[in-house]
Amino acid sequence: MDRERGKQVIVLTRDEGLQRRVAEALAGSPAYRVLQRATGIEPIYDLGVQGALDAILLDYRLHPEDPLVPVRLLHQRVPDVPVVVLVESGDDEFTRRALLAGAKTFLPLGLPPADLVHTLDDLTASAGGAGAGGRGRLVTVFSLKGGVGRTLVAVNLAVALRARIGAPVALVDGDLAYGDVELALNLKPQHTIADLVSQVDTLEPDVMDHALARHASGVRVLAAADNAAAADRVQPRHLSTVVQVLRSQYPWVLVDTGAWADPRLEPILESSDVILLVTTPEIASLRATRVFLQMAREQNYPPDKIRLVVNRADMTAAIPEKQIRSSLGLVPFAVLSDDPALATFSLNRGIPVVQSHGRKPLARGLTQMAEALVSEVAAKAGAQGRGGLFGQRRRA
Ligand SMILES: Nc1ncnc2c1ncn2[C@@H]1O[C@H](COP(=O)(O)OP(=O)(O)OP(=O)(O)O)[C@@H](O)[C@H]1O
Ligand SMILES: [Mg+2]
Repeated sequence: MDRERGKQVIVLTRDEGLQRRVAEALAGSPAYRVLQRATGIEPIYDLGVQGALDAILLDYRLHPEDPLVPVRLLHQRVPDVPVVVLVESGDDEFTRRALLAGAKTFLPLGLPPADLVHTLDDLTASAGGAGAGGRGRLVTVFSLKGGVGRTLVAVNLAVALRARIGAPVALVDGDLAYGDVELALNLKPQHTIADLVSQVDTLEPDVMDHALARHASGVRVLAAADNAAAADRVQPRHLSTVVQVLRSQYPWVLVDTGAWADPRLEPILESSDVILLVTTPEIASLRATRVFLQMAREQNYPPDKIRLVVNRADMTAAIPEKQIRSSLGLVPFAVLSDDPALATFSLNRGIPVVQSHGRKPLARGLTQMAEALVSEVAAKAGAQGRGGLFGQRRRA
């Protein structure tokens, strides 16, 4: 985002007087720039998708038949841009429903100028930041065996987290040469991680922002290189720096990984808060899992850092979960259903199952995993007596 231009606010209203009041209220605050009023939602989509909007002020009278319609549409299409609904008076039921539909907060149509400035300060400060510590949580989805479902887990977790916390989530395709996160999310990225190599020591937020593809869910994606030669240019320090910069900007950073022990991933595994170690209930997969657990012990990783994810747990002739626990000495953090038809459909179409089939057991398991990750951080923040990352959590 171009910080030179200030934070850009748009008013969505048919009332010219309201536009004027907003402009007057923000006239003394050079940090804000009020754009031309919009009377319909379409132009807002374009501006939002280009990253040109920092907040939307929505007049609740815009769609008198159902004032929630614009709230819902904006939340679906430009989920990263906070929406402030301007209302006549305190109507608790409307407020509750609008929050559920995706509004961030409310202000009276009368617009006390100080309230407007404070509200915008709060919202725009928290919209993309990594929270109080300035260090987003790093979750790496890993396995030493290929084809166990890492990419399916990584993309669905990213989308489910995004929906849960209502704040941006970055997903890095760490399968540097052969990654297929972009296919799993049906994206056509303009840039890849290889494009950042030459600028890695001076990575400005707007360069990073430009390099990330934008999924409709709001998840931002750093794609893998599109050829092996470009992937080879990515050195371990490049990958680490990129991930560290993302952590300073995003409250959650997820990394999908390739099937082999790529040494470039070592610093990422080392600095991860959580490693989701994906396995299937098959003998070869369990052996690879055991090998990694041994390596992790040798590296003195804290025991709590590695979480076992048993994917396709109920596949035909699966090794039973009880046996998996005793053979690996780990209680699974998540157990995901086998659903070949849905998994294939989802990866082929590039539509995460948590979006297309939220009620299916596989999607429910993935959503629960996202919730478990969020609630453990929320609990930690609570224990430390501060809002932490989840001051901005959306009401569910
Ligand atoms: N829960 C599931 N149920 C059924 N099939 C699944 C499930 N999860 C993944 N699959 C299937 O397993 C295959 C591998 O999935 P995915 O690409 O997510 O794994 P990966 O570990 O990222 O593989 P790669 O080594 O290619 O990176 C795909 O064909 C996918 O449809
Ligand atoms: Mg993969």
